[in-house]
Amino acid sequence: MNPSSDVFAYRDGTLCCEDVALADIVSRAGTPCYVYSARGILDRFRAYEEALGDLTHRVCYAVKANSNLAVLSLLAKAGAGFDIVSGGELFRVIRAGGDPAGVVFSGVGKTADEIEYALDQGIHSFNCESENELALIDALAARRGVKARVALRVNPNVEAGTHPYISTGMREHKFGIDISEVEGVYDRARALPNLLIEGVGCHIGSQILDTDALIGAIDVMLGLVERLRAAGHPIRHLDLGGGLGVRYRPHEETPEIRAFIARVKEKVRGRDLFVMVEPGRSIVAESGVLLTRVLYRKRTGSREFVVVDAAMNDLMRPSLYQSHHEIIPLRASSRGRIRADVVGPVCESGDFLALDRELENVLPGDLLAVWTAGAYGFVLSSNYNSRVRPPEVLIEGSSWCVVRSRETYEDLVRGE
Ligand code: LLP
Repeated sequence: MNPSSDVFAYRDGTLCCEDVALADIVSRAGTPCYVYSARGILDRFRAYEEALGDLTHRVCYAVKANSNLAVLSLLAKAGAGFDIVSGGELFRVIRAGGDPAGVVFSGVGKTADEIEYALDQGIHSFNCESENELALIDALAARRGVKARVALRVNPNVEAGTHPYISTGMREHKFGIDISEVEGVYDRARALPNLLIEGVGCHIGSQILDTDALIGAIDVMLGLVERLRAAGHPIRHLDLGGGLGVRYRPHEETPEIRAFIARVKEKVRGRDLFVMVEPGRSIVAESGVLLTRVLYRKRTGSREFVVVDAAMNDLMRPSLYQSHHEIIPLRASSRGRIRADVVGPVCESGDFLALDRELENVLPGDLLAVWTAGAYGFVLSSNYNSRVRPPEVLIEGSSWCVVRSRETYEDLVRGE
């Protein structure tokens, strides 16, 4: 069964994205190649935006999920704020035309240089994760004669029910300030004169399919807001992080953005809070694919292999998280089905896009789309094995353009 989505579908036996046949892109841009749908991205951003509606809010797209300038620019024009975790991400947001005043800076290890850059650009706020960090931001703000708006990222000790590498809201994780200690931190932080401590935030993990976990975290956070306000802290904003899961398998039950936000709204309505969310994956994942070409078929012992020209350096998720990405041909065929490992050219047995997978009986030269690759795809790519990184293409209706060109061998040695 082939997956289909709102923006990717077969027409006359040819896989299309919006109004473009993906094979046409390959004939000009080559493989491997990432392709994104502008409509897919904007529809999902607007689902958040419209569902939050009359609540005072900002949807801060998590730049880490896909930081291509064209994607950021699309979202900036649509009115998105941005969640960043490095100075480099802030640079990208500004370069793409995003407004620093809509930026929140998250992350457990911000450097002094990054904090200074963010203060100079006038970002909205810092989500702070330790008392050391609060003291550093206070000192750097003092030197500039400004006040820095901060929220404390709380670790609410809530189980997210996702892959251990992307679960972040339990006591044993490095993230946030333990919920049992955070009130003391707010009290002590009153002594730091260059901070406006107006917010609370949390982010419990990514690819969360059970929204009860996310809602449970909101309950914990709202209880905290009440206690902090009772203690005289002027808490004005609540940042709920990202984490909503998406469909990687054709018939997987996944949460719907509007339905989830309706539940969030029920919880936070009437509490006089500016609400922020930081979705990444749920905006871009299902709006992107990685296109690749079959190089060879081979058999070793009892195992069948499809060797393709995309590898773990292009899409790291299967090797790193054992994640499932559907793999489907750009042209439907009637050659039947096989069971095989889909592997790349990198010299590691951990280099695979799929293991023991049933897929179309593909032959050398065939083109394939690796599904749900718009988030944490290109951004996690590397030059391992001195492979040039693939181009990125953005489709808007019937037009498309290369929004990052394929690297060259010269790019590989630049700076050496
Ligand atoms: N906010 C914070 C503070 C985060 O750490 C993250 C993701 C997000 C927002 C966005 O979460 P999302 O809505 O995308 O779930 N590379 C992994 C995912 C890492 C997520 C890290 N933090 C993967 O490919 O599954």
